[in-house]
Amino acid sequence: MSDIKCINGQIKIPGDKSISHRAAIISALTDDTVIISNFLFSDDCINTIEVLKKVGVDIKKIEDNLVVQGCGIENFMEPDDVLYVGNSGTTIRLMCGILSATNFFSVLAGDKSINSRPMSRIIDPLTCMGAKIAGRQHNTKAPVVISGNNGLKGMVFKSGISSAQVKSCLTLAGLYADSVTEIIQPSISRDHTERMLEYFGAKIKYDGMHTTVFPDNKLKGKNLYIPGDISSAAYFIVAGLILKASAVTIKNIGINPTRSRFIEVLKEMGADIEIKNPRMINNEHVGDIEARSSNLEGIKIQKDIIPNIIDEIPVLCVAAAFAEGSTVISGAEELRFKESDRIKSVSEQFRNAGVNIQEKEDGFIIKGNSSLKIKGGSFECFGDHRIAMSLAVLGLRSSEHFNINNFECVNTSFPSFKYELKKALGGKQ
Ligand code: S3P
Repeated sequence: MSDIKCINGQIKIPGDKSISHRAAIISALTDDTVIISNFLFSDDCINTIEVLKKVGVDIKKIEDNLVVQGCGIENFMEPDDVLYVGNSGTTIRLMCGILSATNFFSVLAGDKSINSRPMSRIIDPLTCMGAKIAGRQHNTKAPVVISGNNGLKGMVFKSGISSAQVKSCLTLAGLYADSVTEIIQPSISRDHTERMLEYFGAKIKYDGMHTTVFPDNKLKGKNLYIPGDISSAAYFIVAGLILKASAVTIKNIGINPTRSRFIEVLKEMGADIEIKNPRMINNEHVGDIEARSSNLEGIKIQKDIIPNIIDEIPVLCVAAAFAEGSTVISGAEELRFKESDRIKSVSEQFRNAGVNIQEKEDGFIIKGNSSLKIKGGSFECFGDHRIAMSLAVLGLRSSEHFNINNFECVNTSFPSFKYELKKALGGKQ
């Protein structure tokens, strides 16, 4: 094992997870055949495909594409088994919105992590729209049961949290409500659902914080290209910044403004990053990203931008560990409700690796140091793909044996992560 590692070259990042879920689900709601290229065939998105198949949607992988034969919600059928979503919060929350508009019985359940994550955030507003939906532990947890209803009502919903999954769930339900549905959130969250519905001709207005969906929509399916996932690119961007003599190029990445604040945050820290060739594909912003070794400085990150960087915070903590001075992340309590309690997971494991990190109720204080030496050992990712990949990037700055248990959970979002990393390291590990 060599002490000094560097990564170089072009990295191939798979399709965006959030957009892949939406592409499969929203295409199924049309009456058209939709060919989706660069779809992310990871565990989470495969669970969405399996759920759609169980409600009668004809959906197949043909060569590298996903081909969805849309049949419209009116032709969805009662599943004869539990709809298993695995580890996927996006699958369960978006599908609850849609299944609430059907007239049949369905049950959605997931793995241990999903069945412990908060579901009242969708069950309560869907109930206000007239859905017959219930969950374990007084309607707060999955499994979730939905029984056919006699039509949904539109409503104005002022949410206390900024969550794209909640907003998308209610927007999808709103497509089938009897009147306008308006969702208001405290700050901007990702708008992929709104963009795809707009691209398919839905009557919808949105600005990140407010989404208004009108009833009587006729969706027209069109073929889709899924841009590379910026949340997956994030691991290679940060690796390029914290390793000496490194430069990576990552092409065709989604740079939707509600997702790419992470790049601005890193630039504020002094990162040498460039976005080239910005363009629009299927109503989404796409660009090529270049990142090079950089001298980083700590910064303050506050609540208003947290939803825009939520999935990148664990790997931002890696950048912060090597940034001179303090990085303070606050207003990020939502991290406690992800695939693991990410505030706890990051704090514990990074501390074991020698990072000066303090756990706060709503974030972290990290005292960084550009010449920090990372200790080796055996690390836990708690079955959380983003913790596993963040630890892998942290471990690149260790000269000792650095082992991450249960690393296969990266298949949730990035099955080729190990392969791409090995290649970028020049075959060295
Ligand atoms: C997602 C939204 C975010 C994000 C998750 C994917 C989506 O969750 O953390 O990984 O696809 O809508 P919240 O809506 O719970 O913030």
